[in-house]
Amino acid sequence: MPTQQILSDPAKAAIFLTLTINESAEEKVADILTDVSALGRAVSFRVPDGDLICVVGVGARAWPRLFDAPMPKHLHEFKEIKGDKHTAVSTPGDLLIHLRARTQDLCFELANQLMNKLGPYTTVVDETHGFKYFDERDLLGFVDGTENPEGKAAVTAAVVSPEEDPNYAGGSYVLVQKYMHPLDEWNALSVEEQERVIGRTKLADIELDDDVKPTNSHVALNDLDPVDGKERKIIRDNMPFGTIGTKEFGTYFIGYAADPEVTETMLEHMFLGNPRGNYDRILDFSTAETGALFFAPPVSFLDDPTTVESDSEASDQEDTSSESEDTNESHESLRIGSLKNSHK
Ligand code: HEM
Repeated sequence: MPTQQILSDPAKAAIFLTLTINESAEEKVADILTDVSALGRAVSFRVPDGDLICVVGVGARAWPRLFDAPMPKHLHEFKEIKGDKHTAVSTPGDLLIHLRARTQDLCFELANQLMNKLGPYTTVVDETHGFKYFDERDLLGFVDGTENPEGKAAVTAAVVSPEEDPNYAGGSYVLVQKYMHPLDEWNALSVEEQERVIGRTKLADIELDDDVKPTNSHVALNDLDPVDGKERKIIRDNMPFGTIGTKEFGTYFIGYAADPEVTETMLEHMFLGNPRGNYDRILDFSTAETGALFFAPPVSFLDDPTTVESDSEASDQEDTSSESEDTNESHESLRIGSLKNSHK
């Protein structure tokens, strides 16, 4: 089972778990994270064609509690974006577990195995089970994911390059938001009106022509222009979820980006508007109940955080190498990186 695989075909089933780390449980949690890949293999080996993928993201507050290794370059807490009418809230989250597979049983089994280990040391602040709704549609009835970049463009959009952050190349910044939809209100709109909200046709999923696509449609506000010749795209793997009895219907938004500023710019366009005040009409039918940013490190780091040296070790090493230059002696290289506290 690939752990920390960011790019994949749209999954049929998903589980999203957001956890906070209990006080003084950092060492235990850091240790358990090195086991995630092995647990995933144990579950997926039994169903080789199940396409089970597990991605673990770590929030900005949790990173220095867990690791000595430096913070990924762009990791920070998600800041609330308050528009005139709608707000992108910021909610707690130290760890995100994103499980995807062909069938829900695989996601469920791995989530359960992971929580058997993490449970005593963490608190679940959100758990959402997502499903694919007919032909890749969300619960608003529109095909969701069409304009995701593919191939090389997908890698550029979502995966941190060695030039950008050599310590964490292969990782990705993950932004999640849980949206609720008042479906009765949405379904009271005509299909033509709904199409003007999204900016694409409902049945055939064709983008509306520029002269009819409103500037406050979801697509118009999220299709960012390139800057200095650089595309500004993200990879989305949104999932519908809901409960019939309580009439709760939603979309779990998940966006992977090489630079979280791209996702945040999209959110500014949606909530503040572009130009200001021209906010995304989808928000009149979608309320963000959660919002958090995480960094999903490359699997090499998740399996063994000692592969990235801490700042203090890096400067020790510099001192040592200048010493050895002085004395012309060769020193064995210092041990690099470490789990927080485990070497102190
Ligand atoms: C209420 C939650 C959301 C729903 C139901 C939703 C649904 C959709 C749909 C139906 C499309 C058109 C088809 C496609 O290309 O995928 C779309 C496009 C898109 N959405 Fe969302 N979306 C949601 C939230 C977000 C958020 C929060 C962001 C960014 C932070 C976002 C970014 C995008 C982007 C970048 C596109 C493609 C625009 C283009 O280049 O044409 N979406 N979304």
